[in-house]
Amino acid sequence: MAEERRMLTRRALGLGTLAAGAAGTAWAQGKAPIRLGLMLPYSGTFAQLGENITSAIELHLAERGGMLAGRPVTIVKLDDASDPAAAPQNVNRLLNRDKADVLIGTVHSGVVMALVQAAREKGVPLVIPNAGNAAATRELCSESIFRTSFSNWQPAYGMGKVLAATGVKRAAWVSWDYAAGKEAGDGFRDGLKVGGAEMTHTLLLPFPETNFQPILAQLPGLGVEAVGSFFAGGGAVQFVRDYAAAGLRDKLPLCGSGFLTEGTLAAQGAAAEGIRTALHYGDGLDNPKNTAFRKAFREKAGREADVYAVQGYDAAQLVAAGIEAVRGDLDADKAMFAAMRNARIDSPRGAFTLSAQHNPVQNIYLREAKGGQNQVIGIAAEALADPGTGCKLT
Ligand code: PHB
Repeated sequence: MAEERRMLTRRALGLGTLAAGAAGTAWAQGKAPIRLGLMLPYSGTFAQLGENITSAIELHLAERGGMLAGRPVTIVKLDDASDPAAAPQNVNRLLNRDKADVLIGTVHSGVVMALVQAAREKGVPLVIPNAGNAAATRELCSESIFRTSFSNWQPAYGMGKVLAATGVKRAAWVSWDYAAGKEAGDGFRDGLKVGGAEMTHTLLLPFPETNFQPILAQLPGLGVEAVGSFFAGGGAVQFVRDYAAAGLRDKLPLCGSGFLTEGTLAAQGAAAEGIRTALHYGDGLDNPKNTAFRKAFREKAGREADVYAVQGYDAAQLVAAGIEAVRGDLDADKAMFAAMRNARIDSPRGAFTLSAQHNPVQNIYLREAKGGQNQVIGIAAEALADPGTGCKLT
């Protein structure tokens, strides 16, 4: 498939195979720009997530002088608005109109499917800096698809495991009705099960709706001891506020995948205080990389870093590892993918490697929201890999 794309590129350039080999080398030497296509949400409920990912990618490239393997990098941005219906056309634009060599995207688990399809069919390198869709690193895994974030299953599994260890036996799951919400629910259920507890109810509302009242009204009557949830961005702000306003905080402790309180605490205020979540990042992680990253991000973006910024930074690090390994020759895609597969990313979350399916193997931290920070209070699951079911990469 990668071969097919190379041939297409060469044909488009009017070059034969032999000539293209020589031209490829000259191209690298002539420092033709590498075009990095960013497909992310810059509007809608996940807009802030897309902005933080972008700022961190730009930060890492600036740290490298705007060059990879001696070639300047041009960033092309496209707002996908977290709209799955527009996604195939948006990917098409990045590849055909904007001539992106490498794709980084996106946040939303439904939208990422169009990127996954392009990467599988055309062999174009794709690094996913957020969307946790299971299929991308399970049954639809590919040598050209990489993820620097998480699978939806991972953080929620850690949360379920910790919750069961506190003695809770029955819990409900509340989320949006789309891949991320449902797959995180699977993780929560599996984590609870390990500790002998059960996820007894699943309550979903359409993405990106925020009329939570009908669901909040049902919760007290379910006979559960706690509530787990997946929401993110603007929706998470609203859910946490509404949960507190409904007077549920003391009756039914709220927990979830860490996105529930990530990058949202200032807007959630007192309503978030004390909420426990599980995530592959947390405030105050004490390692030199994190300290340096947070300072640099604050100086560049004028706001605090969060997990989205970390994932974007690491996406840029992974792209750099691949391109540097082949000295800027993107036609050497097999070697580039192998270098990415084997990279050890020095991440602000702590160094991580990728699984055979190209998803991070990473600690899932237990965090508690306190005074505007998600403070790390323990490890929910150590060096956790996604099950990777159905992926044939080895
Ligand atoms: C997703 O759709 O996969 C998703 C969106 C926002 C998050 C996490 C996951 O914060």
